[in-house]
Amino acid sequence: MPHDVLETLTVSVDRRSPEAALLAAPAETLRSGGLVAFSTETVYGLGADALSEAAVARIFEAKGRPADNPLIVHVASVEEIAPLVEEITPLARLLIDAFLPGPLTLVLRRSSIVPSIVTAGLDTVAVRVPSHRVAQALIRMAGVPVAAPSANRSGRPSPTRAEHVLQDLDGRIPWLVDGGPCDVGLESTVVDATGEVPVILRPGAVTAEHIRMATGLDPVDASSFVSADPTAAPRSPGLKYRHYAPRARVLVADGPDDDARADAVLSLAAQEIAAGRRVGLFAGHDTLLSLSCPLVSAVVPRGRIVLSVDWGRTDDALSASAALFDALRRLDDAGAEVIVAQSVDPAGLGAAYRNRLEKAAGGLEGEVQGP
Ligand code: TXA
Ligand code: MG
Repeated sequence: MPHDVLETLTVSVDRRSPEAALLAAPAETLRSGGLVAFSTETVYGLGADALSEAAVARIFEAKGRPADNPLIVHVASVEEIAPLVEEITPLARLLIDAFLPGPLTLVLRRSSIVPSIVTAGLDTVAVRVPSHRVAQALIRMAGVPVAAPSANRSGRPSPTRAEHVLQDLDGRIPWLVDGGPCDVGLESTVVDATGEVPVILRPGAVTAEHIRMATGLDPVDASSFVSADPTAAPRSPGLKYRHYAPRARVLVADGPDDDARADAVLSLAAQEIAAGRRVGLFAGHDTLLSLSCPLVSAVVPRGRIVLSVDWGRTDDALSASAALFDALRRLDDAGAEVIVAQSVDPAGLGAAYRNRLEKAAGGLEGEVQGP
């Protein structure tokens, strides 16, 4: 279906003290049922009034998003969660006190005010209180809860900079609120808190270890859950889609430690170059430095690499995560046919980074598989 052509207006807002005057028009657009993309600490969101079915329908249209993938409802403060849910469970209370506002989304039983288009017909709703001041100020000013998926076209990497939103949605949305690049760079941790034990549906910056420390409970990891029953509905519908995908093929350079992962980058790059393909690299600084060593440059000639993106210290999962989605887009734009991306240690935020990298490489997480 052709979309109405709009002019997308971008407003750049001070992330430390967002100017109310600049947010007034986007907030009014949200209140009256329009779409506004905005920065959060995780990734940019594409927001609409969560209590308006017509407004939420516009999100699905602008993104090209399948209707069976539910949305996260964003509010400006933790007090505003209660009206959206049937009950704040004792587990949810612990998680709220420990982590909100911040990069954690809670799945709880929904209250009747949440339209079923938001939850894709589920009896639960995902709620989040972003810590980013621009997101908080915009939502507070709009005065409505804001349903917001990541502000990418469906199937593209999540946007971590305002320019990524324009690459995907320019002319499809009236407003983009630019609060700068996102700090975390990966989407929020999604935790089902309806029961007594936390179930991680999507790993993120709030890690399993953080949740264990805050609740004293071992979280169940459902993020790599693959059902043996082909008729079973996936626990989190979004998990069945291939997300975060650049156009290029992504090869994950993995191994038991940083040295092995660096070696994997070089051997995968050598193999792809030998096959005549245009290769791009995403790796830690030390790994990329070794490209100038003569032995290495004999098999991985630097002139044959279309672009190398350096995330900084090789053991720094925080920097790797913050840079990942931007790197995938830049390597695509540089014309890479194959992206060789270095993995990181699975501890802490490394689990979320590895999860997104595997998805970019085409793993269909939570995919319902036949016998
Ligand atoms: O960091 C984030 O969470 C970003 C920013 C904008 O806040 N938003 C985001 O939204 O990543 P989205 O729509 O791209 O991802 C939402 C995820 C999907 O995997 C979806 O299936 C899951 O949350 N989800 C939403 N509602 C759910 C529910 N009721 N039960 C289980 N999973 C749910
Ligand atoms: Mg998304």
